[in-house]
Amino acid sequence: KPPAGCGRIAPASSELRAGVEQMRLPDPLGFGTLMAPIMALAYYRDGAWETPRLTALEPLQLAPHAQALHYGQAIFEGMKAYRNLGALFQSPALLFRPYDHASRFNRSAQRLGMPRIDEEVFVETLEQLVAHLDKLVPERLAQSLYLRPAMFGITDHLSVTPSTEYCFVVVATPSDAFFTTPIKAWIERRYSRAGAGGTGNVKAAGNYAASFAAAAPLREQGFHQLLWLDANSRTHLEEFTAMNVFVRWGETLLTPPLSDTILPGITRDSLLALAGPLGLAMQERPIAIDALVEAIGGGADIEVFGCGTGAVIASVEALGDESGLRLPLPAPSVAPLLRKSLLEIHHGLAPAPKGWQWPV
Ligand code: PLP
Ligand code: COI
Repeated sequence: KPPAGCGRIAPASSELRAGVEQMRLPDPLGFGTLMAPIMALAYYRDGAWETPRLTALEPLQLAPHAQALHYGQAIFEGMKAYRNLGALFQSPALLFRPYDHASRFNRSAQRLGMPRIDEEVFVETLEQLVAHLDKLVPERLAQSLYLRPAMFGITDHLSVTPSTEYCFVVVATPSDAFFTTPIKAWIERRYSRAGAGGTGNVKAAGNYAASFAAAAPLREQGFHQLLWLDANSRTHLEEFTAMNVFVRWGETLLTPPLSDTILPGITRDSLLALAGPLGLAMQERPIAIDALVEAIGGGADIEVFGCGTGAVIASVEALGDESGLRLPLPAPSVAPLLRKSLLEIHHGLAPAPKGWQWPV
């Protein structure tokens, strides 16, 4: 039967729905390895979006001179639907803060000269996709159906101007948290991620490509994430490649203040709201890398962790850099508590502010 609540978005074919029903989740699940066979797809032409449709996950037809391929007019979001494991909601699955993701998607679109997408349509598309893919929403805590909305310019011209046509897709993949064990982070002192006035505060595809050359050789040395410093002075922490950064320094939880070079993480924002009730003092303030390294080396009571949709919360067990620094960190104390509180909210086991838990 078609999932309940179908409004504008028509259900997928019965053949596609039957295909989903036959699927089994692999164990271990991994991140982004098994793609759901249904995606949402919509095109923007003649100044308007068509209504998204649910269709088979298939390669797209794209001109080799499509705008996104040459000039990088491409953005994305990372979102999750969690299995509802509590009694607060009746629905089988819960999206986390979908309207916050929708509005960030539109901020990214605006920054790259792309059209807005109606936030209600964005959220309804996700709801319908998740309803169709309920079989692929894992039952286990911290696992989820990871959702990847993306938009890119597809106009086939080489003039350096925005596309006039766009493609909006949402693909889905049942996944574990991006990191399930503590990570090693590399303090990146050579390259930088984002400059003032650039695209660092939006989810532009090119932000990620720009990190690959720096990250690849380090992965071979066991480092999982780059810890980016500010591009001007390379003295202060900004964020990781795919997560915002937090430091617990004694009794205080610190995170760099938002700026035009830091992605305003929805997980970051959620943790800022959760820290108070857990009895932690919270400060958004610049964190100097040298002072941090010196204090950790001197045995101060410090933990460092990253947070993001994919990762949830990942503790840092060691920091390294090109000078040969290899600095182990003590076992985390607060990150596991925050992770537990957040996951309880994700899975509907604990109440949360309005709009965070979105029944599907
Ligand atoms: N910073 C970057 C660069 C990211 O890619 C992400 C992941 O989306 C985050 C921070 C965390 O953002 P959010 O918590 O909204 O997923
Ligand atoms: C997410 O955490 O969802 C992201 O988008 C980061 C990523 C590149 C995995």
